[in-house]
Formats: sequence, C-alpha cells, structure tokens
Amino acid sequence: MEKIILTGDRPTGRLHLGHFVGSLRRRVELQDSGMFDKIFIMIADAQALTDNADNPEKVRQNVIEVALDYLSVGIDPAKSTIFIQTQVPELTELAFYYMNLVTVSRVQRNPTVKTEIKMRNFEQSIPVGFFCYPVSQASDITAFKATTVPVGEDQAPMIELTREIVARFNNTYGPTLVEPEIMLPENSVCLRLPGTDGKAKMSKSLGNCIYLSDTSKEVKKKVNSMYTDPLHLTIDSPGHLEGNCPFIYLDAFSNDEHFRKYLPEYANLQELKDHYVRGGVGDGTVKKLLYNVLEELLTPIRERRKMFEQNIPEVYEILRKGSEAARETAAKTLDEVRDAMKINYFGDEALIKEQAKRYSAK
Ligand code: TRP
Repeated sequence: MEKIILTGDRPTGRLHLGHFVGSLRRRVELQDSGMFDKIFIMIADAQALTDNADNPEKVRQNVIEVALDYLSVGIDPAKSTIFIQTQVPELTELAFYYMNLVTVSRVQRNPTVKTEIKMRNFEQSIPVGFFCYPVSQASDITAFKATTVPVGEDQAPMIELTREIVARFNNTYGPTLVEPEIMLPENSVCLRLPGTDGKAKMSKSLGNCIYLSDTSKEVKKKVNSMYTDPLHLTIDSPGHLEGNCPFIYLDAFSNDEHFRKYLPEYANLQELKDHYVRGGVGDGTVKKLLYNVLEELLTPIRERRKMFEQNIPEVYEILRKGSEAARETAAKTLDEVRDAMKINYFGDEALIKEQAKRYSAK
C-alpha cells in the first residue's frame, strides 16, 4: 500500500514557532526522508470559515501568509502538493455523505470541539458548519487515502473520528476508504510550546507568539520580555526551571553546537541549567543565548520568505497547480465512494439494464 501523508492548517494567522516545533519542522523532515509516496499539505480555508464566516477577508489574507510560511520553512512544491481546501469541492461532497455516519452526540463529546465552542462563546448558538468541521476533516484525510496524518495532540479526536467513519463506511458500503494513523510530534517539548508569557500555548489571541516572519528586532524584544522565574531576583539567587520560558525554548531549539558558538563557558544545556539552579546565572545570559539560537533558525527562513514575497504571482501559481493535482486525486476517491454508495446512476450500465429488464417483464 502506498504511504500517503495529508495534513494542514487553518489560515487564520501567520505561523509561529509553536507551529514550527509542533508540525512544520517534522513535515520538512518527512518530505525529505523519501519514505512517503505522496504528501499533501492543505490550507484549510473552508474550515477557517466555519468560525470566521463573517470575516472572509481575514481568511483570504492568511491563505497567502500560510503559503509563504510553508515555502519559507522548506516545504518544496516539487515534493509536496500544497493546495487550498475550497479549491477541491469534492471534499465538501464527501463530507455531506460522511455526516450520515456520525451522530450529533459523537461530535459533542469531541474534547477539541468542546474547548473551541467555549473559547468562541458558541454555547448558545453553534453554527452547524462549525459543528460539522470534524466530519469535513475526515473527508480531507480520506479523499487522499492518507495513511499518515502528522498533527498536534489536539487533533487526535479528529483522527479518531475519521477512523470511525472509515470503518463504518467500509462496513456499510464495502471496502473503499483507508484508515489513517495519527503521527504525533516526537518529544514532549514539541507537543505544546508555551507562549512567551509562560501561558500554556502560543496563541495569536493571547499575543504571546514569536512568528516565523518576525524581524530580528521583534524576536529580540519578545525574547527579552519572556516570562522566566519570578523568584530569581538577582543573578546569584537560585533559579527554577519549571515554567521558565527561555529554558523551555532552549530545550526545543538548542544543541551543543550552539553552546560552542554562543556560550562556550558551558558544554551543553544541562551544564547551564545546573548552574542556573545553583545560582550565578542571570536571565539575560540565557535570553541572549536563546536569541542567538532563534536567529540562527529564523534567518534562512526569513530570507526564503523575502524571496517568495518578491514573487507573489508565482506563489499563487504553486497553489493553483497543487489544488489541481489534489482535485484529481480527490475526484478519484469520490468516484469510488459514489459507486460504493450506489449513487452513480449514469456510469453504471448494469443498473440501467437491470431496471430496463425489470420494467419490460411487467
Ligand atoms: N484542524 C486543523 C487545524 O486546526 C486543520 C486541518 C483541517 C487538518 N483539515 C485537516 C489537519 C486534515 C490535518 C488533517 O490546524
């Protein structure tokens, strides 16, 4: 069986370091590993519209932002098909059929949907489209017969639901769809990078993100104002690592080479941590190291972004071609689905003959 990846993001903002450690970095590795036959990366604008129905301009603007972020981190359109969800209308049709296979109470139990409903104050009036997005996500995945879905842990309930839909579909209509596996980020730091304020998650609405497209100056300012250890009042006082943002970020981004280059007094992060805990290391030292580490990571990303920003029509062309290719694949699956569901009336000669015979015998 072919190994196929499908994953994607809602275009509701520029992508940040949380996306980078949680998914983007991995995608580029998977893309370059040669272990997958096909990779589809989707800009989920239809899903973004389920809770931004009144703000299509925001979604439209962020489609290009996300595309630029993808290209700038090294997602290569020659190896990965980047496409826009709404430009593959087959996905919408699939979702409509899958809705018959899912109960309302099943979606209501989805913890990610529950949290989102609370965050958006939808409790009293949930848009039907929003409520159904987990079902639509199952069509995104199955339309491409994806075997592997690399996503963050918050997406696990969606993959679980997709597997249930696939099982129910195949059971009811005959083997047609492929059950996908979730692929979670590798280590716990990557599961959820905290915001620069120490809050649980980098999130645009909390204003605690470092964006991939931030300038050096912005990164410096954000690193310098990071939440550290409120009890670490002087350089000599003992420090605490728990919830200490610069250290958590160093866990996610630094390696021994960085120490040789930027802070040779220490061989590695562990030595720096030990000294910090004993007392004698200032937050400024840690932040300066982190700034250097992040700059080393972000400089080439920024440069590639600049290059694509100078050539926006080409970026749209990449998206158009990707969407065309994605559509071809999705259309094939949809044909199979229609056959299995017995709603292929005109391409089914046996059906026409059978009905003709039935009526001529009358
Ligand atoms: N729900 C995902 C997010 O919020 C985006 C998404 C839509 C997706 N369809 C998908 C991710 C299919 C993986 C597979 O980021």
